[in-house]
Amino acid sequence: MKILLLGCQGQVGQELQLTLPSLGAVVAWDRTHLDLTNLESIVPAVVNQQPDVIVNAAAYTAVDKAESEPDLAHQINTAAPEKLAQAATVCGASLVHISTDYVFDGQQNRPYQPEAETNPLGVYGHSKRDGELAIQANTEQAVIFRTAWVYGAKGKSNFVKTMLRLGAERDELGVVYDQVGTPTWAYDIAQAITMLIPHLQNNFGVYHYTNNGAASWYDFAVAIFEEARKLGHPLQLSHVQPIPSEQYPTPTPRPAYSVLAGDKIAKVINQTAPHWRASLRKMLKEYL
Ligand SMILES: NC(=O)c1ccc[n+]([C@@H]2O[C@H](COP(=O)([O-])OP(=O)(O)OC[C@H]3O[C@@H](n4cnc5c(N)ncnc54)[C@H](OP(=O)(O)O)[C@@H]3O)[C@@H](O)[C@H]2O)c1
Repeated sequence: MKILLLGCQGQVGQELQLTLPSLGAVVAWDRTHLDLTNLESIVPAVVNQQPDVIVNAAAYTAVDKAESEPDLAHQINTAAPEKLAQAATVCGASLVHISTDYVFDGQQNRPYQPEAETNPLGVYGHSKRDGELAIQANTEQAVIFRTAWVYGAKGKSNFVKTMLRLGAERDELGVVYDQVGTPTWAYDIAQAITMLIPHLQNNFGVYHYTNNGAASWYDFAVAIFEEARKLGHPLQLSHVQPIPSEQYPTPTPRPAYSVLAGDKIAKVINQTAPHWRASLRKMLKEYL
């Protein structure tokens, strides 16, 4: 099997570089190999590789900045995935595309199933939702793999790394308590995608995968500090204050509740996702 991985230097992409080779030959591309804003180059470049599976971990992920760069977000998250789907059709490849809980408005109070109605709140969410639709319009051999609240030891800054930095600098910190989701370790996402790929035939469609359980950003922050302390990591912080979202305004509103139901993928890969706190502990052991 030949797998073409896009976005190989991202949080999830770096983990996929380690897990996908168990399935076959992996060609791993970052922006220097293929810039996804160069739309006309995408189909010829991908078709030239003749992959069996394309895994797209590349995306425009700056949620708030997207409000001031809607065209760029649309190019990378909608127009480029559309081209990837066209390329997949030309070479008969399957496409695994990562998407997000931000396609939902967060008004539900029970976990979102993959077929739940989407209603994104901001430019980023719209660009990702439109990318899903563009893929579905251009190939039947696609998996839309939605995940949420991603963090990892590798790659860019994320909530865990930011909390550790602030916890080392400050005595007190306010963290939002009225947004609930599921923190998800990039390593677990890569494992799940790698377990899903052998089952792709007859199982195309939309999947939800996150770690198990649910937490607010406040719960997540408290857990980060508790687990970091247990590992002997020095922190100055003595108090975490739960605050409402209106005390931490952002350019893009976030869904209040975006827990994703993972039963569908669990059945296909025959494995339940680890609890978010267990995975946080493992990530911190790797990172600290
Ligand atoms: N992060 C989250 O909390 C979260 C939550 C839900 C879903 N997701 C989804 O999960 C997937 C992976 O996210 P992540 O956290 O691993 O993202 P990430 O760390 O930001 O990685 C995204 C990668 O995409 C690459 N990229 C951006 N623009 C590109 C372009 N024009 N051409 C080629 N490559 C480009 C980036 O390269 P550069 O470094 O060169 O820009 C980066 O390596 C994405 O689909 C994202 O939407 C993420």
